[in-house]
Formats: sequence, C-alpha cells, structure tokens
Amino acid sequence: MPRPITISFTSLFITTLFISTFSLPQELFALDFSSKLRTDKQSLMSVASDFGNLTESIPATVFYPSSPHDIAAVISFSYTNSAPLFISPRGHGHSINGQTSCPDGMVIHMESLGQDRTDRINVSVANRYVDVGGEQLWIDVLNAARRHGLGVNSWTDYLYLTVGGTLSVGGISGQTFQHGPQISNVLELDVITGTGEQVTCSKTRNRDLFNAVLGGLGQFGIITRARIPLSPAPEKVKWVRLMYTDIVTFTRDQERLISVDENEWLSGFLNYLEGSLLLEQGLIDSWRSSSFFSKNDTERIVQLTAKHRLTALYYLEVVVGYDEDIATEVDQELDLLLDDLSFVPGFAFAQEVTYVEFLDRVHDGEVKLQEAGQWQVPHPWLNLFVPKSRILDFDAGVLKGILGKDKAMGPILIYPMNKNKWDSEMSAMIPDEEVFYAIGILRSATRDKLEKMVDQNKKILEFCTIEGIAFKQYMPHYRTKEGWMKHFGSKWDKFVELKMKYDPKGILAPGLKIYTSLLEDNYI
Ligand SMILES: Cc1cc2nc3c(=O)[nH]c(=O)nc-3n(C[C@H](O)[C@H](O)[C@H](O)COP(=O)(O)OP(=O)(O)OC[C@H]3O[C@@H](n4cnc5c(N)ncnc54)[C@H](O)[C@@H]3O)c2cc1C
Ligand SMILES: *[C@@H]1O[C@H](CO)[C@@H](O)[C@H](O)[C@H]1NC(C)=O
Ligand SMILES: *[C@@H]1O[C@H](CO)[C@@H](O)[C@H](O)[C@H]1NC(C)=O
Ligand SMILES: *[C@@H]1O[C@H](CO)[C@@H](O)[C@H](O)[C@H]1NC(C)=O
Repeated sequence: MPRPITISFTSLFITTLFISTFSLPQELFALDFSSKLRTDKQSLMSVASDFGNLTESIPATVFYPSSPHDIAAVISFSYTNSAPLFISPRGHGHSINGQTSCPDGMVIHMESLGQDRTDRINVSVANRYVDVGGEQLWIDVLNAARRHGLGVNSWTDYLYLTVGGTLSVGGISGQTFQHGPQISNVLELDVITGTGEQVTCSKTRNRDLFNAVLGGLGQFGIITRARIPLSPAPEKVKWVRLMYTDIVTFTRDQERLISVDENEWLSGFLNYLEGSLLLEQGLIDSWRSSSFFSKNDTERIVQLTAKHRLTALYYLEVVVGYDEDIATEVDQELDLLLDDLSFVPGFAFAQEVTYVEFLDRVHDGEVKLQEAGQWQVPHPWLNLFVPKSRILDFDAGVLKGILGKDKAMGPILIYPMNKNKWDSEMSAMIPDEEVFYAIGILRSATRDKLEKMVDQNKKILEFCTIEGIAFKQYMPHYRTKEGWMKHFGSKWDKFVELKMKYDPKGILAPGLKIYTSLLEDNYI
C-alpha cells in the first residue's frame, strides 16, 4: 500500500498540485459509504483553503457523510487498514492557517451531516438545554433557541462558525469574562474517536475524552453532538461604546467591570464586555462596514484624535440586555455605571437593538464587505492571550510599536477575561495569570501588503518572546514540535498520552502538524 507522501505548503508559497487517487487505498471505493466520496477537482478545491486564504493544500478525497455512522465507518476503515488514511473534519472552514487541511488524505465535509435535516438541533425547554449537531452553525442555534425565549450563555462574535469548530478551539467573546468560553458551557458530547468508536462523554462519563476534545483542535475525535445549557434571553439590548485616549484608564475600567463582586448591584448587569483599538484607518473602515457610529459620530471621533494628536483610540464596549417593561430602570442603571467610568466626557455612544441583531452584528459587516469584494481576501489574523501584568508593555511594543505606524485594515480587539472561568482540565491553553487579555489582530490584506503583515505577526511573537511576555496563541499555529511542546507546556505529556489513547494511529486532523511521535511516524 503506498504510504502517504508529505506535501507542506508554507503560507506564502502557493502551489497547485493534483494528487492522483492512487494514494488512496482502492478498497475505500468498494464500501457502503463509497458513494459519498468525491475526488473531482471542484470538490477537492472547495476544501483546499480556508478563511485565511493563506495556504492551499489539496486532499485526495472529500467525504460527505449523511450520518455520524458514516463518519464512524470511514474512521474505522482507516484505523484497520494497513496504511492508515489521514482524516480531517472541516466545519465552516473559518480557520486561518490550514487547520482543516489534509494533504493526500480525506477531508470530511461536516456540514453535509445537517443537509436537509431538521433533527440536528433539538431544544429541550423543560431541561433548558439544546442538543446540537457538531456541524451546525451557531446562528442556527440562536434562531432555534430564540423561538423559546432562550439563548446559550457564551457566544462567539461571529455566528457563522460550526459548533464543533469553535468547541475545538475554545469559543470566546464578550460573555467569556462572566460565563467562560464556549467550552466551559458544554454538558455532554458525542465523539467519534480515532478508532472509529462512538463515545458519549461528559464531566462524569469518559471524562478524559470530554476534557481532551474541548479545545483539542480536532486531535482526539470528531464532535457529532454537543449538549449546551440554555438560559432566558432578553428581547433587546443597550449597546454602548465608550472612548478612551489612553490605555491605562481603558484597561483599568475594563478590569474593574470584569471583577465585579457578587454582592455589588453591578453583578450580572453586563451581558457582554469587549474593547477595541481604533486606528485612524480602522475608524473610517468601521464606519463603512458597521452601522454603529453615524457619520457625525465618526467626525467627532476623528476630531478627538486630531485634538489629542493620536493615531489611535480605544473603545470599551458593553451590552446590557433588557425586556421592554424594564427599559427605564435599565437606562438609570446604565447612567450609574457610566458615572463610575473614566472615558472621555461626552464620548459615550449608545444604540438599542434586538438581542438577535446584536449577536449577528458581524454578519452585517460581512455582507457589506462582500458587496465591496473585501471578504474573500487574505486574512493574516493573529489571536493571542496576554497576561494582564504585561498588557501595557504589549500596548507599547506591539500596538503602538510594531503596528503603530501602519494603518490597519480590520478590527483589533482587546478585552480581559477571568482565568477562573476556564477549566484547566481541558486542552485549551491560557496564560497562568488570574486576568488575561484576548487580543485579536484581525486584519485583511491586499496581496501586496500580505508579506509585510505576515512579517509583522512574526515580529509580534518575537517581541513577546524576547520581552518574556508569557502569552498563549489562541487558535495556535506552529510548525515545529518544539513550538507545540512550548504551547502545551506542562500539559504536553498528557496531550500525547490522550492522543495515544484516542487516536492511536495519529489519523485525525494532521493539518495542524502537531508532531506527537504518531504524526512523525506516519508523516515523515
Ligand atoms: C469572521 C470570523 C470571526 C470569528 N470570530 C470568532 C470569535 O468571536 N470567537 C472565537 O472564539 N473564534 C472566532 N473565530 C475563529 C473560529 O472560532 C475558529 O476558526 C473556528 O475553528 C472556526 O470554526 P469552523 O466551523 O469554521 O471550523 P473549521 O475551520 O472548519 O475547523 C477548525 C478546527 O476544528 C476542527 N473541527 C471542525 N469541526 C470539528 C468537529 N465537528 N469535531 C472535531 N473537530 C472539528 C478542524 O479539524 C480544525 O482543526 C472567528 C473566525 C472568523 C473567520
Ligand atoms: C484566495 O482567494 C482567491 C479568491 O477567492 C482564490 O482565487 C485563491 O485561490 C485563494 N488562495 C488561497 C491560497 O486560498
Ligand atoms: C434530535 O431528536 C431526534 C429524535 O429523538 C433524534 O433522532 C436526533 O438524533 C436528535 N438530534 C440530536 C442532534 O441530538
Ligand atoms: C450631523 O451634523 C450636522 C452638522 O453639525 C447637523 O446639521 C446634523 O443635524 C447632524 N445629523 C445628525 C443625524 O445628528
């Protein structure tokens, strides 16, 4: 049986190469599920890249399962075959660095599990949870839960991502400070492991698999169902942005708001907290692509930056949910809250929108960018967790330093979260400090600027390393075993042990190039 050959593409060297299906075991095409395999150019190319638009890697086949059973069957086949076939699940393909790629192997098109089916999202109103297929998009979870006046506790900013895809990385947004990431909000999972076995797991049942899979980057199994708790959802929200001209007051206010004591009236008041760095160009872009700031607001903000000779401003963003009957009370409470904060006087901007409009806000931006042809472009995104103790150094060295001279295209997010809302047993990695910041440098590139941006990202990581800033990458991307070992730190041995247990042939999600010995044996 031919051994899979390795083809690696570094981000900037894009090669198109068609691999013949000779590299696939021919028995594959004589099995029950064979009609769901495709090897035509269009199918292969449809999964060759991802949202990052930085890498291209062509699999040998794409599998379109119609049930979890189909997935179990292909993995069992691979596991028992003399030359195991690599298999990568692909959710909505919104990774940046080829995480779903599977050179020479099989990509599973997860979304076909939910095609033409209505039984992949089951809301249990009585039990206050939803059972949802791993291939489902969060927007569909929102719509299903909302019909019963319910919602999940922890969302992502953008909802056109699959449940399995975000649970494999963590799932963060402005609710994380209070409710933890999405992986802290899961009751139970169905997982198909690297041996093809279907396992139901939770904190009390097959606990090690449950913990491994959550934030596990697709390395231990494929999530086919997640049970997620639901809570009452408000009808509407007050959505507020507050401007700051300096990082110290900005972060002080953010940190104050995420550390509210249980006994304070403020406890539970905010439903969301984030923050952004607004660079001059970003301001103009954000006015174009978002409906938040009016043209007049934008002009006032631009004048503020001119007055302070700033190239950048920060804004703190909070949201308070409410139902119509308590609207006046909420306004009064919001005023109390604003009195307590140190934003630039007169620079508070508020909107009232429905809960759904707020949660789906990024999609609005997407539609506008798509119309302008600015959505399918390279996205050299960098997401980091930076310990609170070093956020000012990070600001000085990276935001004002490495990025400072550039007019960024796309948002730069900065918001704090509490470590105690994360579960240290799970695979996701965070800094070892009680409060840390999520930093999302979410830039779009034109082809001619791409190289420079990629280089800046490299410089940012180097800066952090040299300065001894104990960051973690969110949605980590490494190309060496040393990189991965450092990322997982003291959890590395456990990670390898669980990989041996649940994917003993190292079949799953090789696109991340996590070189445990299994991958080395099969890949090199
Ligand atoms: C516009 C945009 C906005 C974003 N906003 C946020 C945000 O607010 N918060 C946040 O946390 N992240 C955000 N992300 C990042 C996003 O959560 C991750 O990239 C996520 O992995 C993408 O989900 P996906 O369904 O597209 O997964 P894919 O990119 O298809 O897959 C991601 C990884 O998960 C694995 N995987 C996919 N499905 C499964 C499954 N069912 N079981 C096991 N493993 C699986 C894949 O093999 C791969 O390693 C955003 C990304 C984009 C492009
Ligand atoms: C980037 O996107 C363009 C436009 O969709 C596409 O033609 C190109 O193949 C993509 N390149 C990569 C590496 O994804
Ligand atoms: C939803 O319920 C139906 C009927 O009980 C069941 O067949 C299906 O598997 C459930 N879906 C999920 C995602 O749990
Ligand atoms: C915007 O500003 C102009 C000039 O100051 C003013 O005339 C106009 O009424 C403002 N528009 C809104 C919607 O506030």
